[in-house]
Amino acid sequence: MPESNYIDVYFSVQAFNEEDLRGKSAVIIDVLRATSTIITAVSNGAKKIIPVADMEGASRIARTMDANDFLLCGEKDGITIEGYHLGNSPQEYNPETVVDKTLIFNTTNGTKAIKKANLANRIYIGAFLNQQRILNAMKEHDDEVVLICSGWRGRFSLEDTLFAGSLLYHFFGGELPYKTKDGAKIAFSLFERYKEDLEETIAKSDHAYRLQNLVPKGDIAFCCEIDKFDVLPGMRDGLITNLDG
Ligand code: MLT
Repeated sequence: MPESNYIDVYFSVQAFNEEDLRGKSAVIIDVLRATSTIITAVSNGAKKIIPVADMEGASRIARTMDANDFLLCGEKDGITIEGYHLGNSPQEYNPETVVDKTLIFNTTNGTKAIKKANLANRIYIGAFLNQQRILNAMKEHDDEVVLICSGWRGRFSLEDTLFAGSLLYHFFGGELPYKTKDGAKIAFSLFERYKEDLEETIAKSDHAYRLQNLVPKGDIAFCCEIDKFDVLPGMRDGLITNLDG
């Protein structure tokens, strides 16, 4: 189990350098909606997910594969990309659509955070949907843990920070140890402040307003469900799979 001062929180993709993660474990967080969607896809039987940083990266990989073997998935600024099979709503990733499929996944911030974490010892994909599995994974090792909030184009995101705070709150049994990093103090305090009204608070976040006329009804509520899925997606050698499987 890591010591209390060995858990830190970064608040956007741009807030860290690749080298900052070398030798550490990373939990990548994009509650609205990339990591929630990945968790749903993995739970519903997707074989593997290839995260890419941009459309060019997605096309490059797609060109090397048989057209029947993959689905192009993701969004730009919340909107499904023209020509893609699926957008970034977790509700699209049902078993009929994703079972045994390889998903090439490209989002505005979330997949960039995942790609940038490639020097970490372990890379876990977390959101409220698999909170307990992430907590269990955090307790298994004693290396430093960094909770990486994807944010929005370099800026802070309330929903990601609340989930980082929730992890810290439950990891430490509701009591923040004396010796913790500044980022952990901020996330923990924010969660303490809003923990009784999580969904309502997240529904009023900047990103929820950004998405309100763009995404299927119910996405925000879906992403706020705690422990809906019992999976631990993680990235190894550039591929996200269920680490249980
Ligand atoms: C992202 O990667 O920035 C998000 O998942 C955007 C979204 O809500 O589609």
